Amino acid sequence: MSVTVRVPAKVNVQLSVGAARPDGFHDLANVFLAVGLYDEVTVAPADRLRITCSGPDAAQVPLDASNLAARAASALAARHGIAPDVHIHIDKDIPVAGGMAGGSADGAGALLACDALWGTGTPREDLLALCAELGSDVPFSLVGGAALGTGRGERLTPVEVGGTFHWVFAVADGGLSTPAVYREFDRLTEGTRVPEPVASDALLDALRSGDPKALAATLSNDLQAPALSLRPSLAATLAAGTEAGALAALVSGSGPTTAFLTEDEATARKVAAALTASGTCRTARTAASPAPGATVL
Ligand code: C5P
Repeated sequence: MSVTVRVPAKVNVQLSVGAARPDGFHDLANVFLAVGLYDEVTVAPADRLRITCSGPDAAQVPLDASNLAARAASALAARHGIAPDVHIHIDKDIPVAGGMAGGSADGAGALLACDALWGTGTPREDLLALCAELGSDVPFSLVGGAALGTGRGERLTPVEVGGTFHWVFAVADGGLSTPAVYREFDRLTEGTRVPEPVASDALLDALRSGDPKALAATLSNDLQAPALSLRPSLAATLAAGTEAGALAALVSGSGPTTAFLTEDEATARKVAAALTASGTCRTARTAASPAPGATVL
């Protein structure tokens, strides 16, 4: 017997970052949009907790206890006083260490899959609390759709989306460490007054309208400058996508994946082909949003 859960990637359409808090985290106004690129997490009974991964970038995924899927299984088992003896297999399609919440997706996926496998019937509220302990982006991977994340990004309020948005994601060579990008944010803003992060009404209106041009005009990411500072070559990728006809280009989360919003699906395919041909990224993928959250298949 096994259970498989499908979990989406995300892009941040607004990522406003406040000053570092005493605990080292940053308060955020983080508008998440789930996009149709998915990992599939399968769990089956085993004699001990073990984890395997398949997919083109599987070699970059850590298979030890640091993997968020393994941590999720252990946390859920501990809550119910049982042993986390499962084989977790991740079929990975979300870029690794790319700012698209791939690790968070695997954490949320493993949590939901183990809860179904073990018949532990954990209330949704408790699953969300366990997700928040695993990482700031993990609750959103469970919920999907679109949501505003406040606090360190884990406190979610649903956001209305009035249509389908078409994206291209340019995958860079090598990842970027999220803590390193936040540290670079701290370095770049040192000595300045960092404003309280607040959700943009114009951006929320644009999402509600379903109009890609309105959304393009309101996209923002405070981690873009630090990501570009650590990886200056991303500027050429952003320019190549805009020249190819994207409405807007931005770094996805903490990067180094870059995201391009397009008018429609046909333009997305054209921009993806141009980005691949430009030589400024490893590969380019198209995906639509919003996408559903973690789902048992
Ligand atoms: O919550 P998560 O484990 O995903 O965060 C990874 C790292 O990103 C944290 O250790 C911290 O350095 C940084 N971070 C932050 N403020 C947030 C979210 C993450 O500084 N709101």
